[in-house]
Amino acid sequence: MQKPIIIAHRGASGYLPEHTLEAYQLAIDLGADFIEPDMVFTKDGHLIARHDHYLSTSTNVADHPEFADRRTTRPGYDGEDWFSEDFTLAEIKTLRAKQTMPQRNHEADGKFEIPTMEEVFKLTRANGISASRKVPLGVYPETKLPGYFKSIGLDYKAALISELEKAEWWTDPFPIFVQSFEADILISLKQLKPELPLIMLIERKQDLQLEKYAQFADGIGPFKGLLVTKGGKSTGIIEQAHALGMEVHPWTFRSDQLPQEFNSPQAEYDFFFELGVDGVFSDFCNDARAAKLARFARNQIKTRE
Ligand code: G3P
Ligand code: CA
Repeated sequence: MQKPIIIAHRGASGYLPEHTLEAYQLAIDLGADFIEPDMVFTKDGHLIARHDHYLSTSTNVADHPEFADRRTTRPGYDGEDWFSEDFTLAEIKTLRAKQTMPQRNHEADGKFEIPTMEEVFKLTRANGISASRKVPLGVYPETKLPGYFKSIGLDYKAALISELEKAEWWTDPFPIFVQSFEADILISLKQLKPELPLIMLIERKQDLQLEKYAQFADGIGPFKGLLVTKGGKSTGIIEQAHALGMEVHPWTFRSDQLPQEFNSPQAEYDFFFELGVDGVFSDFCNDARAAKLARFARNQIKTRE
């Protein structure tokens, strides 16, 4: 797959309610290289695509009177909400997704189901090789809160491997990166299934332990601000990761929330592409792809001069 890879962050989440088959399909149609499902558990052990295990922000659960008494608290969670691990998959399927950001289009709120990981893998397979991509579509699942789910008896490693087996990944692999903010799940996945490409997510400067991550991860997914100095130069993280044999896929690029130093989405992508990133997580994968293609065209012209 030609780098930098374009990862559709939560699907085409700039346009449609995130983590729905419709948002993933739109991302595919807009030319994403990978779709990115964040995965949490249901009570009966199914993996479903949601960024958070609390459900009020991204679904219409609050409009379901039959679930009013499920509103509760959880350790580490401020206030009350409805949590995925208190719902069976059949119950989750009665909910509908909604756009999480107020400034974005809300016309599709209440229309789309919450997909399972099985459905996301099926969608990935069904899209296969497209004329625009020329290589198979990839999927980039994130294990959300694996330590917490393990503490309540829900084993992420077993569930993920089982889903990959159902999707026949070991006999007919499609491009994949499995990501997490928690090193433990990645370390145990690497021990069990060394062939599975893994990405260590990094949010804070103090978590930058690249030599440690290189022992089990194939790359890092850092907050993009960690890659740039105040003066607009590389912090050296990309170079260090590359020297350790790891890819660098920063997040999150949002055309409707541009950092003030960039006057267009293309300017921001160009800057990070030039810095040497191997991929980008984007809510607007069409803008990321346009910037990638424009850069490719410029480089082609240069080599012909
Ligand atoms: O997974 C990379 C990026 O998505 C991390 O941020 O919080 O959107 O999952 P989040
Ligand atoms: Ca994610």
